[in-house]
Amino acid sequence: MPLSRRKTLALIGGGTLFAAAAGAGTFIGTRTPLKALAPWDMAGSYGDARLGALSYALLAPNPHNRQPWLAELQGEDTVILHRDPDRDLPVTDPFARQLTIGMGCFLGLMDMAAGQQGLAVETQLFPEGEDGPVAICRFGAGGQPDPLFAHVMERRSHKEAFEARPVSKDATAALALHARIVTERAEVETLRRIGVAAWQTEAATKQAWQESIDLLRIGKAEINAQPDGIDAGGAMLESLAAVGLFTREAAADLNNPGTKGVIEETTDAITGAPAFAVQVSDSNTRIDQIGVGREWLRLNLAATGAGLALRPISQALQEYPEMAEIYAEIHQVCAPDGGTVQMLGLLGYGTRTPRTPRWPLETRLLNGRNLT
Ligand SMILES: Cc1cc2nc3c(=O)[nH]c(=O)nc-3n(C[C@H](O)[C@H](O)[C@H](O)COP(=O)(O)O)c2cc1C
Repeated sequence: MPLSRRKTLALIGGGTLFAAAAGAGTFIGTRTPLKALAPWDMAGSYGDARLGALSYALLAPNPHNRQPWLAELQGEDTVILHRDPDRDLPVTDPFARQLTIGMGCFLGLMDMAAGQQGLAVETQLFPEGEDGPVAICRFGAGGQPDPLFAHVMERRSHKEAFEARPVSKDATAALALHARIVTERAEVETLRRIGVAAWQTEAATKQAWQESIDLLRIGKAEINAQPDGIDAGGAMLESLAAVGLFTREAAADLNNPGTKGVIEETTDAITGAPAFAVQVSDSNTRIDQIGVGREWLRLNLAATGAGLALRPISQALQEYPEMAEIYAEIHQVCAPDGGTVQMLGLLGYGTRTPRTPRWPLETRLLNGRNLT
């Protein structure tokens, strides 16, 4: 079966190809990487309150699904959270800005999950400076459930094209608490143009593109063995991989028809996005980046609650030389008075993207212990 444009989903730049299997027949069920998806069903099934909160936190959005978190349990009430440098993205995120935002998403979700259990988390960020742990988190009494928690299991980073359906200001009212929502036509057009230029620059920058290729997990066995990165699964892709038509080498070759299709697919998603979400911070400290991540998580959950799909597109915000001009332009447009554009997202209506893989909680604990 040829990969139709609708079914060929975003591969590179944080995409997932698992949904490409949709509609590929009964074979699909057996190709689902159940082991890689199991942490979604394990969330909340731990006796220890901290483990319960961490088991939700690891479902947080994060760049390239690197899941750079490592948690250390200390005493009876404390979690020390680290960022795992082995999961860095040296080309596209040389200063770990995006990875730190992902850590903020993790902390935001951990706090919410603690709140569900009536616990509050007192957090000290970067207690030893940038090079030490990300946070020391002390769990204690006094937390409150958060209404946004209701959307945790349905939250996704959208990967497919958007429906040709406008997004009204009213529909995004709840989202405006967490980001600037752009629905006005002229600015939407400008952001689409910048988004496409950035995406094409990333594709044309060999080492940036290769960073994504290196994170491809092709087929059920690879996805289950390494449940992170860019999951390219499903019956159709596995069949293509089996006959040598879908390989890392083919994906790295911009002249390969499949790769061209993937590039075009993401271009279409950007040009068809009815609205954008933009987050800007005045300064760009590690603490700011954590704060951005916490708000991005809330934005993503609020969008889910409003029936909207949200997809980060980070290429224009990336800090490598080939992107410098586009980076300057997005700052002129979105932060004319200064500041750092931290997140840019496409917003619209679309069919729900499937869950993405996660490493199980026990693999992300520094001092692994019997998880009950
Ligand atoms: C800081 C940050 C940057 C991201 N950039 C992109 C991006 O450029 N393109 C994209 O498709 N997804 C991007 N994502 C989304 C991730 O790919 C996604 O969170 C990850 O694959 C896990 O999937 P999930 O959010 O659906 O659980 C980004 C997420 C974060 C937190």
